[in-house]
Amino acid sequence: MVHKGYKSVHPILKMWKSFQEKSIIRRHYLLSNVLISLFMYIHHYWSHTKAKNIPSTVKLRSVFYEYALNCNRVLDIGCACGEVCSQLASAGFDVIGVDVNQEALKHAFLSSKEQLYVKSPYYLKADAEDLPFANQTFDIAIMQAFLTTIPTKDSRTKIMREAWRVLKQGGYLYLADFGQTWHSKIYRERYINDLSITKEEGSIIAYDQETGETAYIAHHFTEKELVFLLVENGFEIEFFSSEEFRTRTANMVNGYIFVGKKVGKFINV
Ligand SMILES: C[S@@+](CC[C@H](N)C(=O)[O-])C[C@H]1O[C@@H](n2cnc3c(N)ncnc32)[C@H](O)[C@@H]1O
Repeated sequence: MVHKGYKSVHPILKMWKSFQEKSIIRRHYLLSNVLISLFMYIHHYWSHTKAKNIPSTVKLRSVFYEYALNCNRVLDIGCACGEVCSQLASAGFDVIGVDVNQEALKHAFLSSKEQLYVKSPYYLKADAEDLPFANQTFDIAIMQAFLTTIPTKDSRTKIMREAWRVLKQGGYLYLADFGQTWHSKIYRERYINDLSITKEEGSIIAYDQETGETAYIAHHFTEKELVFLLVENGFEIEFFSSEEFRTRTANMVNGYIFVGKKVGKFINV
């Protein structure tokens, strides 16, 4: 007997529906596993890749020196092989560079031994999400082509808060990074095609130039994203400019330069 309002479903149809549901769950499960592995791989990528594979195409703009005029202690976050640290140490600053890549830091250290500085730059292996410095240690911090390598919003926020914590009251953060470049066909297609994997608009998958294997995710920012990353994490914007930056593959993309000033009272959280 069939009750009113109840539609009998053919057993084969039932089996098919249950198979479909399971395969959707399975697909989600597989996709989330792929994403988790990808993010873990990326974290591993930066700490384990050869120093020669670390891109370094953006140059420190002269506006940095305007804000650094009365600054002494400088922190370069994601310093790689120490190019910027070396430049600043030569200009007389007291510089510390941090990076997760031990080989890059070794290169930085060895090349600093060949230079004659008043005070040599100091290099330390550290994760920008958890900096091994006391509150209010530095006058100015640098993040140059660094946040682009951080693939999640959560991590970027943690990093901004750490930079805020280690800066002195009124200290500056010089931030230069890649901007989304939708007018370029190459980048437009990559933003669209890679979205199913990266799950963030403006992110692209970067490949190893020798092996062609997946290397890391690079995020290209909107101006608004960087503005909010700064102002929501305790910085007021003192300087902004938009210029073209060269990528490691020699393409020209939008680039943004900000100088943020640490504002607000320090709350030890
Ligand atoms: C694209 S390179 C930029 C290097 C340099 N700042 C420049 O302007 O050429 C990014 C650097 O950030 C480092 N890095 C990535 N994630 C990091 C993290 N969580 N903490 C510290 N350094 C990190 C990488 O190892 C790499 O050396």
